[in-house]
Amino acid sequence: MANQAKLTTAGKEFEYPILKGSVGPDVIDIRKLYGQTGQFTFDPGFTSTAACESALTYIDGDEGVLLHRGYPIGQLAEQSSFMEVCYLLLNGELPSGDELETFSTTITRHTMLHEQLATFYRGFRRDAHPMAIMCGVVGALSAFYHDSTDIADPEHRKISSHRLIAKMPTIAAMAYKYSVGQPFLYPDNKLSYTGNFLRMTFGVPAEEYEVIPAVEKAMDRIFILHADHEQNASTSTVRLAGSSGANPFACIAAGIACLWGPAHGGANEAALNMLKEIGTPDKIPHYIERAKDKNDPFRLMGFGHRVYKNYDPRATVMQSTVREVFEALKVDDPLFETALRLEEIALNDPYFVEKKLFPNVDFYSGIILSAIGFPTTMFTVLFALARTVGWVAQWNEMISDPGQKIGRPRQLYTGPTQRDYVAIDKR
Ligand code: ACO
Repeated sequence: MANQAKLTTAGKEFEYPILKGSVGPDVIDIRKLYGQTGQFTFDPGFTSTAACESALTYIDGDEGVLLHRGYPIGQLAEQSSFMEVCYLLLNGELPSGDELETFSTTITRHTMLHEQLATFYRGFRRDAHPMAIMCGVVGALSAFYHDSTDIADPEHRKISSHRLIAKMPTIAAMAYKYSVGQPFLYPDNKLSYTGNFLRMTFGVPAEEYEVIPAVEKAMDRIFILHADHEQNASTSTVRLAGSSGANPFACIAAGIACLWGPAHGGANEAALNMLKEIGTPDKIPHYIERAKDKNDPFRLMGFGHRVYKNYDPRATVMQSTVREVFEALKVDDPLFETALRLEEIALNDPYFVEKKLFPNVDFYSGIILSAIGFPTTMFTVLFALARTVGWVAQWNEMISDPGQKIGRPRQLYTGPTQRDYVAIDKR
């Protein structure tokens, strides 16, 4: 039968159903494999394993496609807003005008932090990495909002999701303020989600802060581009933590910890540092040669992706956003010219063409964030802020699934077989 996969093992033939999604590769349902054959599958890094069923985000890496609930990321980035994308990811459909207004008002009303949380910040060193502060403070939220941690109650799940999305900009801005020794600013509910974040980050109490519309728009777009990316490492971490019944604040803190790693959220910082090191376009050929040299550990940062074997659709939007931000802020960072030239040279080089290495979302984002005024240590924090909606939407989807089980991978054991304990004087 075409919808069954046959497996011959241990001298017998077994059949496993082939499941079809709405789009994308079919999956072989091997849930009964161990019970029937006594064997596990082996797939470290999950390169061929679908760990869950999801209706949120679809990626076709060969075609450079990214869809949220079916909508292409390019359309959302150009025509939507981050609040609308949050609603879409959480609820499955785009909101009506009234629904969007109600949702935005709800989020706005949750932006303040419990006053006692401010004392947590003061326990950190001034030079603490803001991601360290984020991990700690977000985990601590569970100690403050007991009234929304019954994960079996959909209303509790909704409230804690709203709280997390709403409080993340306040938490992120406070982490920044603490590092530069400036006073914390309370949220201002007259402003948009993104405008409020910019003011809490860059405003000071002594002066009126004016949100620059083009910067607000660019920032909002960057949030949209990072909102969700199906079963990446941090999202899978959130799902795994949540599968044990842990509360949502603890799960999101786990996701933040995973995102912090340089192979995941930290690459835009590395890409910007690389562009600074290259400096001027005349140095590019030297660095291209280094990237191609197997004996040199240097790689073109912001190039290549595990899933995208085509242009990352988010990189296209990022590139056009650089121009808008430069125009609005009247800056002209020569590194942008270096980046454009580097991309052009690499995309015409057989090494990069054959290996299907294209710019990813991180190639241009560092240039924009640095033009807006963020230090590099804040780059991953911004990623965490934006990804929070994806994390909570995926977590909610998992908890709502009646067939949900605790995540418990198996292993290929290669340690010693059973042996007798030897008393210390006999070793
Ligand atoms: N520069 C030069 N060569 C590269 C690069 C690069 N940026 N990326 C991959 N290659 C080469 C590898 O050397 C390898 O060559 P080989 O087949 O001759 O050994 C081949 O392309 C395949 O690379 P892998 O590392 O096996 O591919 P994988 O899918 O495991 O890695 C990754 C993807 C980690 C993103 C990789 O492309 C990379 O290191 N890129 C730079 C870091 C980066 O930009 N990360 C951000 C990813 S986006 C995000 O996380 C939001």
